Amino acid sequence: MNDDVQRERAEADDSRARVDPRIDTPGREGLTGTAPANVYRRLPDAEQITIPPDWRSMEAQPPWRGDFPIDWPQDQYVERRDFVKFMVLTSLALTVGQFWIAAQNWWRRRRGVPAIRRIAALDQIPAGGLLTFTYPGPLDDCVLVRALDGTLVAYSQKCTHLSCAVRPQVESGMIHCPCHEGYFDLRSGRPVAGPPRRPLDVVRLEVRGRDVYAIGIEARTV
Ligand code: FES
Repeated sequence: MNDDVQRERAEADDSRARVDPRIDTPGREGLTGTAPANVYRRLPDAEQITIPPDWRSMEAQPPWRGDFPIDWPQDQYVERRDFVKFMVLTSLALTVGQFWIAAQNWWRRRRGVPAIRRIAALDQIPAGGLLTFTYPGPLDDCVLVRALDGTLVAYSQKCTHLSCAVRPQVESGMIHCPCHEGYFDLRSGRPVAGPPRRPLDVVRLEVRGRDVYAIGIEARTV
């Protein structure tokens, strides 16, 4: 084999050495110069890259991952616009909340101290008995309970979770809310089980002679 033939074969093996000068030939694809396309490494489109949650390669993933690919970095990525939107909405919600609390305080102050009202005669409620009444307004349902030892307690009937009507269970020393199985202690009105977190509003009582009076209502947070 002579030298010319060997040189031609070597040039044929090295595609970088040979560039077809004609336009639109495979070797010049995408190029404006004279370098053939295979000298460049093709980079995959970032949108096409899927990085699974465990960060291992797709080859190491179970077969079903191909049908449900999750691009973890893409999934965790929060755009600046999303972040700003979140911050604006959160601030708005906090501001509205503050206004709501201020409005409630204003309304409570405007209502003033509730009037003292007779709610029952002592003889009406034996030990273990209970009696419902409204206080301070006609729509504010309350319950007066006489514990087994004769102690009188009264609470708003409105559950502090989602406002269902609570029911005293004098024998077990509990007040039960049937909506979501909430329980309050009968003596203190504090939550002991279930979703409620705040104690029941307590109606302050006074016994004058043989009568029981409501003299105020106390909203508690703890
Ligand atoms: S409303 Fe009373 S526990 Fe939910």
